[in-house]
Amino acid sequence: MNNNNFLEFNDVTFTYPPVEGDLDENEKQIESKPVFEHFSAQLPEGFVSFVGQNGCGKSTLMLLASGRLNPDSGTVTLLGKNPAVLDDENKNLLASVIYQNMEFETEDKVKELLSFVYQNGSLKGNAKAIRNENKNLLDETIEVFELSNVLEHPLTKLSKGEIQRVLLAFGILYGSQSLFMDEPLFALENYQKENALSYLKEFVHKTGKSIYISMHELDLTKKYADTVLLFYPNRDMALGTPEEVLTRDEVEKAYGVPYAMLKDHENLSREYLNSLSNQKKEAQ
Ligand SMILES: Nc1ncnc2c1ncn2[C@@H]1O[C@H](COP(=O)(O)OP(=O)(O)OP(=O)(O)O)[C@@H](O)[C@H]1O
Ligand SMILES: [Mg+2]
Repeated sequence: MNNNNFLEFNDVTFTYPPVEGDLDENEKQIESKPVFEHFSAQLPEGFVSFVGQNGCGKSTLMLLASGRLNPDSGTVTLLGKNPAVLDDENKNLLASVIYQNMEFETEDKVKELLSFVYQNGSLKGNAKAIRNENKNLLDETIEVFELSNVLEHPLTKLSKGEIQRVLLAFGILYGSQSLFMDEPLFALENYQKENALSYLKEFVHKTGKSIYISMHELDLTKKYADTVLLFYPNRDMALGTPEEVLTRDEVEKAYGVPYAMLKDHENLSREYLNSLSNQKKEAQ
């Protein structure tokens, strides 16, 4: 397998089912438009960042890539396999997913959940830390993601940022061959985002696993990603190194606003992006 076709989409078309109750002026059901239509691409291994404005298709692409959604037609191949036809365990071992909005009901403590994930994935509770041979991977993730103060707390009692840090640790400790992380950082402090990204990148390079991550922080994508997939609003995409892809022109095209409006906001928060699109709507 060469490293440029770790993940392949071949003539993929995908449409979400119509949203119930979504009616036009004649009270007729509004059909959804395809999110992807005859889409083909080959994505490399490594630390790959998905960037683009709200609704451009980042989450949907991750769900198709990891077999959590099935294309209507065409094929998805991840490491030579079609993830959608695997049973749950083999699907998880091939691709873990950190969803954009995850909610939990368990009263189990963080400590127990971390051990459970570590024991029940491919690592069987036994892997060396990547930064220090003498340490265990579990202790390293607790340290890197600053979890020691929440180990005794149930997941349901954690803040959003704490939950995100636990989920990052789950991703590492399960040991899948690839990880899809959908905006896993947005609730973190800036220094925590940097710590997490530098660890994830090191993890990818030392273990040979691949991480596909979506985030709105252009500055951090530039700093950490090996490869960027930039989504344009018309579903076109550009793939390359951050230097190749995140040029002024391309970023303007992808976000549909002048660069000057973006350049002081390299941390493109969800709120900021929404305020830009509201401004655009009001101007029309
Ligand atoms: N469950 C769903 N049912 C119907 N349409 C959906 C559903 N989820 C997403 N869509 C639509 O599919 C398109 C792609 O959405 P997607 O969630 O993949 O975008 P995104 O790039 O992840 O956006 P964001 O930055 O807001 O997370 C959008 O037009 C969205 O409205
Ligand atoms: Mg999304």
